[in-house]
Amino acid sequence: MKVLGIETSCDETGVAVYDSSNGLLAHKLYSQVKLHADYGGVVPELASRDHVRKIVCLVQETLEQAQLAAKDIDGIAYTRGPGLIGALLVGSSMAKSLAYAWQVPAIGVHHMEGHLLAPMLDEPVPAFPFLALLVSGGHTMLVNVQGIGRYDVIGESVDDAAGEAFDKTAKLLGLDYPGGPLLAKLAEQGVPDTYRFPRPMTDKPGLDMSFSGLKTHAANTVKKELNDLQTHANIAYAFQEAVVDTLLIKCRRALKQTGLKRIVMAGGVAANKKLREKFASASKADKFEIFYPSFEYCTDNGAMIAYAGCQRLLAGQFTDFDSKAMPRWSLETLPAV
Ligand code: KG4
Ligand code: ZN
Repeated sequence: MKVLGIETSCDETGVAVYDSSNGLLAHKLYSQVKLHADYGGVVPELASRDHVRKIVCLVQETLEQAQLAAKDIDGIAYTRGPGLIGALLVGSSMAKSLAYAWQVPAIGVHHMEGHLLAPMLDEPVPAFPFLALLVSGGHTMLVNVQGIGRYDVIGESVDDAAGEAFDKTAKLLGLDYPGGPLLAKLAEQGVPDTYRFPRPMTDKPGLDMSFSGLKTHAANTVKKELNDLQTHANIAYAFQEAVVDTLLIKCRRALKQTGLKRIVMAGGVAANKKLREKFASASKADKFEIFYPSFEYCTDNGAMIAYAGCQRLLAGQFTDFDSKAMPRWSLETLPAV
């Protein structure tokens, strides 16, 4: 089965074709980062307009790259939510129109399920069950994953998502949007242990997380200290250590609680090198397996949506044409495959 996947939940227009027999055949991504950078964050109305501008061209280019025609496509997957409503509407309208014109089923995919299954696009493919650590700009979640659609959210951020905290702290340090990767780069020049930031919500039991205090801690440190590059690098280092350590403490706790022996990490922050390093050494010490998507499938993309949609279409699931987009949508309400 060949599935066209469309992602438009935020500021990336992603289109891909996934084939259940031959894997990913093509994928294209258009990032709106430059458009939003002047505003220091995503402007929803501008995002919707830019998705409208790019989506048809990207579908054409992706089909060309895959050397496929409309008649070769067996289904259309699109991001139904969660995300910015105007942006979601662009992708869902496009997907439903194509499905109607090409007489194939459409399936609305949960954006976080897309992230969660993204590591399946690479070898080795993680086996179920596993603990998923989803760390994106909008969400931070620990999920007990027993199979596709069998999700138990056992921990999440009570305030800012990890990526959001990275971006806000980066802004404090004068870095451009989206600041997560830039802060990580700056942290490489930081002197270890100049500052020690707290590891929030780790002194009490439980799997929920909180990252907004770290941003405040960074703001207070910036105010107190010298306004130079080395100080900023030291703050970036301490901030990153605190986020990564907190995520690791929570994951170790979750593994113990669930008895799971495998972690799948996904979402934009899973691209963070320090996070990968610390989890890699923990996995050796604690004897658990760890899987990540390749860097290009960590941040938003159409490939993960095509893959997730394909699994559901193969199981006979589809989404009605009169279904609504879901700006808020619980992962736990999805049907099992
Ligand atoms: O998954 P994603 O592309 O979009 C959402 O669904 O939110 O994640 C984007 C987030 C942004 O907050 C970005 O700053 C962060 O992922 N990010 C990183 C890195 N690369 C992307 N954060 C820390 N280190 C990185 N290397
Ligand atoms: Zn995302």
